[in-house]
Amino acid sequence: MAAGLYNMRRMTGPRLSPLDRLLELADLGLRASFGRPSATRPTPGRPAAAGPLDEGRRRHVAGLMRVNHAGEVAAQGLYHGQALTARSDAVRATLRHAADEEGDHLAWCRDRLDELGSHTSLLNPVWYAGSVAFGAVAGLLGDRVSLGFMAETERQVEGHLERHLARLPDDDQRSRAIIEQMKSDEVAHGRSAREAGGDELPAPVPQLMRLTARIMTGTAYWL
Ligand SMILES: [Fe+2]
Ligand SMILES: [Fe+2]
Repeated sequence: MAAGLYNMRRMTGPRLSPLDRLLELADLGLRASFGRPSATRPTPGRPAAAGPLDEGRRRHVAGLMRVNHAGEVAAQGLYHGQALTARSDAVRATLRHAADEEGDHLAWCRDRLDELGSHTSLLNPVWYAGSVAFGAVAGLLGDRVSLGFMAETERQVEGHLERHLARLPDDDQRSRAIIEQMKSDEVAHGRSAREAGGDELPAPVPQLMRLTARIMTGTAYWL
């Protein structure tokens, strides 16, 4: 069974004390931040070392993939937080499916960073913890708001990945294949959240989400 699905089942399981849930989240956060998750699907594209990238382009691509890895850590945090406070089983199932696929994204970005001889963001635990808090608050506001939050998150991630595709070297087919598949998955996640009844979020929430994401992506490129 996929680690993500297993994790989500654990955390939506019956009768855990608040302390148990806190410890469980800490465990999930450490796994997402530093672990090497196994993916349910193979990494898109063909394995490729850093070459033919020169040093400058290798560092640039590694920065972009580190940002994407950090984004997936944050996505895990959001969905774990939202699942914690979700009211219905149907919404938990939607979150569970998305989190499972985000686990694949996490593994693929990590694979690519390994191939490039680079590292994940040192601030991953910060991205995770902040995202759990955002997700838990979204969940507390009700399932329709929570699904709307998920839809808006996925819409913004889709746009972000589109911009990364424009910034990636044309000959880095491996990174491009990974990001293309991620983008296609994020579109499906957003659609499932809207179809499940997600509300449009009122201004200025999407703008605030964009600002928060900009801080994270700007930092994770370097750290
Ligand atoms: Fe993702
Ligand atoms: Fe997603």
